[in-house]
This record gives sequence, structure tokens and C-alpha cells, in this order.
Amino acid sequence: MRVQDKVVVVTGGASGIGRALALRFAEEGAAGVVVADLDEAGAQAVAEEIGDRATAVQVDVSSEPQVSALANTPFGPVDLFCSNAGIIGGHGLDASDQEWSSLYAVNVLAHVYAARAVVPSMIARGGGYLLNTCSAAGLISCPGDAPYAVTKAAAIAFAEWVAIHYATKGIKVSVLCPQGVRTAMLAHGIQEDHVTARAVAASGAILDPADVAATVIKGLEAERFHIFPHPEVAEYVRRK
Ligand code: NAI
Repeated sequence: MRVQDKVVVVTGGASGIGRALALRFAEEGAAGVVVADLDEAGAQAVAEEIGDRATAVQVDVSSEPQVSALANTPFGPVDLFCSNAGIIGGHGLDASDQEWSSLYAVNVLAHVYAARAVVPSMIARGGGYLLNTCSAAGLISCPGDAPYAVTKAAAIAFAEWVAIHYATKGIKVSVLCPQGVRTAMLAHGIQEDHVTARAVAASGAILDPADVAATVIKGLEAERFHIFPHPEVAEYVRRK
């Protein structure tokens, strides 16, 4: 799928990977970009950077009514929904139920809410695309924070389910599985001593968000299910 002339929603669009995706989609000629984030000022700044073809919406992706509302854009029906917002938190067996629930809501349920919000109308219009930001942590058996790895693995499993279930109805699904990207989340994770963040930082292969966005454009054009910005992750998964 080419992004040109498409209407796109990006959650977590105020910073990091989501910001880079929003900017790149605009550069590729998207008809409209909805920059959705909990951080209203951050989303507004990105929308202003893009200009007329963007709008900012404050959203908490763990709220289904708020995610559903994103389907009504000022640019028309959504062609590409990027469910990208995510959080890190909790460590190992000491992670509290509250931490597990928070990560599950943002890293998994938000993808379910997004699919519920747009898939039926996409089918009615002949098709559409979902891009769900997951993580290499959901695919690679590396030392990491349990709630993060488990919720990202669940998010990949959900995306696979949607892809298989709606393949004949024109719904395409891709999962973005980066390993280490220079963003606020990575910096925060290292500072808070999260094993996942330290492991990716130690790997040395840290990419800039703009590099990830460039890989996403190629992945969407090729309609690949897995989009791996880090080639070594692709190689690891291929051999597994
Ligand atoms: P980031 O912290 O720069 O951006 C995350 C954005 O999500 C922030 O703007 C934040 O305000 C927003 N957000 C958080 N909770 C939200 C909620 N409940 N509702 C709406 N928005 C919310 O982090 P980054 O790295 O850009 O993360 C984007 C995605 O990439 C996440 O899903 C993350 O798990 C994933 N990822 C990041 C990697 C990295 O190394 N940075 C590696 C693998 C995956």
C-alpha cells in the first residue's frame, strides 16, 4: 500500500516512533494525518509541524470510546490506522497486578479497540490497513521485563489473528517489531533500570525514529506482515 492520498491515524504520534511515522506519512503525500496522543501539547506540535493536512487529538488508548472516536476524522474514513502508543513498566516476578493490567491495556487492548473501531467500515469500503507497533521483545527470547515482553507477544498474536481472519475481506495487517530506537521510552527505560531497555542499549544497534519510519514505508508498500527495522532481528526470527 502506498500512503499517498490516504487518511492515516497514528496513536502515540506526539513523540518518538509515532512522531516520525506521522511526519513521514505526510511527506509521502497522505491526504490527512491524525496525530493522537495522551500528550495533547506534543500531538499539537507535531500536527502544526505537518500543517493543514494534520490534526491533533488527545486520546488515552486504554479507553475504548476514545479510540473509537478516532475513526471520525476531518479528512474522511481511515485508510491506515497505526496503533503505535505503548508503555514500558514492571520488571519480573515483582511486577504488580496493577503494572500488568496497565501494560495489557495500552500494549494489547488498544490494538483490539483500534481494530473494532475501523475494521468493519474498512471492509464496507473494500479494505484498509492496520499497522500495529509491537516489539522484537515479543518475538525474541531475550532477557527482558516480563510484562513488556508478554504484552508485545500478545499484540503480535492478536495482529496475526486479525490478518488471518480478515485476509479475504481486504484487511491488511503489519506488525512493526523494532529492537532499539532512540526515543524517550528507551531513555526512560534505561534510567528506570528496565532489563528490556538495557538489553537493547547494550546491543549497540540503536536506530533513529526516522530510520524506522523509512523501513515502515517500504514494508507497507511490500505489504509485509513483519516489519523489522533491525536486520539482525529479521535474521534471528528467520532462523528460529
Ligand atoms: P515514546 O515514549 O517516545 O512514545 C510513546 C508515545 O505514546 C508518547 O508520546 C506517549 O505520550 C504515548 N502514550 C503512552 N501511553 C498512551 C496512552 N495511554 N494513550 C495515548 N498515548 C499514549 O516511545 P517510542 O519508543 O516511540 O514507542 C512507540 C512504540 O514503539 C511503543 O509501542 C513501544 O513499545 C514500541 N517500541 C519501542 C522501542 C524503542 O526502543 N524505543 C523498541 C520496540 C518497540
